[in-house]
Amino acid sequence: MYLGLDIGTSSVKALLIDAKQNIIAMATAPLEVSRPHPGWSEQAPADWWTATSATVAELRAKHPKEVASVEGIGLSGHMHGATLLDAAGSPLRPCILWNDGRSAAECAEIEQICPRSREIAGNIAMAGFTAPKLLWVKNHEPAVFAKVAKVLLPKDYVRLLMTGDYASDMSDSAGTLWLDVAKRDWSDELLAATSLNRAHMPKLYEGSAPTGQLRADIATAWGMPKRPVVAGGGGDNAASACGIGAVKPGTGFLSLGTSGVLFVSNAKFSPNTAGAVHAFCHAIPNTWHQMGVILSATGSLEWLSSVFGEPVPKLMDGLGDQIQGPSHVTFLPYLSGERTPHNDPSARGVFIGLAPETTRADMTRAVLEGVAFAVRDCQEALKAAGTDIGSLMAVGGGSRSKLWLQIMATLLDRPLLLPAHSEAGGALGAARLGMAAATGANPISICTPPPISATIEPSRAHGPAYEAAYQQYRRLYPAIKEVMG
Ligand code: XUL
Repeated sequence: MYLGLDIGTSSVKALLIDAKQNIIAMATAPLEVSRPHPGWSEQAPADWWTATSATVAELRAKHPKEVASVEGIGLSGHMHGATLLDAAGSPLRPCILWNDGRSAAECAEIEQICPRSREIAGNIAMAGFTAPKLLWVKNHEPAVFAKVAKVLLPKDYVRLLMTGDYASDMSDSAGTLWLDVAKRDWSDELLAATSLNRAHMPKLYEGSAPTGQLRADIATAWGMPKRPVVAGGGGDNAASACGIGAVKPGTGFLSLGTSGVLFVSNAKFSPNTAGAVHAFCHAIPNTWHQMGVILSATGSLEWLSSVFGEPVPKLMDGLGDQIQGPSHVTFLPYLSGERTPHNDPSARGVFIGLAPETTRADMTRAVLEGVAFAVRDCQEALKAAGTDIGSLMAVGGGSRSKLWLQIMATLLDRPLLLPAHSEAGGALGAARLGMAAATGANPISICTPPPISATIEPSRAHGPAYEAAYQQYRRLYPAIKEVMG
């Protein structure tokens, strides 16, 4: 048996698979995000541990025998979070998350201190990445910065509590802006730009390599007497790619979680900072990937649901499940700023075209469409980077809506394939990496594409109207950028 643990933004997921990769059970426990100031986004590291332990306890209660035979564990987690630890390994402050926009000034500072930063990291210094956050802490919370002994990504803090090791994998580490992404090694130059050095960093491993073993006391508490090995794992996007077999060059997926991601695997490091394309290591050795990332995908819907005081499924009920053509209202989903293509942490969400006849359903449809327009922007950015996108699988909570996928497929002008168990995502990829680490098998042979349960085709009838609406959408951000920030 193998266990995948996915530390997501809104929940922790635990997934148990057997040696034939049958899914035996899944458990989830919710997580909260706190927003102490506009543009900030934080989580308490202790909550990840509480939620992780709760999911394992749930699996154990229902499947004690299977849990007792777990031999390998893989970790996946939301990327870029800055978990600052003191010399005893205790968190010094809440973790600053991937969708936190406070460090815009520090991004400029890093690029000024280290003019080669884009070349080494293969990425623009963006406010969500880890390195600028450390510079922000240095500038604004010097007493905390002075005590920083180690900086870990969220899933690697959970690993520390599981195994006692300070370790990370290449895919998640690529999102820190401290990694030399081509060399798959920390960059002394980039670390120095934030007054840190290698001693502050965890040891690096490939995603499919073992980094350690479950501590004896945790193994007892979790009911896993075999003390399973723990794999490097991956950032949630690379782990999801492992979960749906997007590991060969040119294969990719569209993920609709709190963030939205258009992901493509590459045979070599393929940086292209124009259009704010992300170029990171994959969780598979000697493989890289590119992504367009938008910060509020299902996050936008959840926001709308909180404003109307109705759960998301209730909002969606009002729309039916057939595509109807663009709404008269347009939504810009920049609630937490935007990465691809604008790299603008101070951008904010906008509704345009509200009229006396506008209903809640129109606004909900506008949100679905606005997120789809933003994903189309990602596709344009990847195309401009010379990337050939083949067919795309759709994963994440948002992929449960057929209507949303029809709108996406129409705007991307390509079919979207729905994998069986699309909800398993990063947790399945993590379990597969755990299996590779425990068995020594080639991860490529483990990370195979799943059966396809449905194919969502673009709507030919509504294509031209959506294309016109997208062209209109593209003109909005440049027109109102000045008054937003
Ligand atoms: C990727 C990114 C998000 C997070 C949260 O760069 O910031 O996708 O990993 O899922």
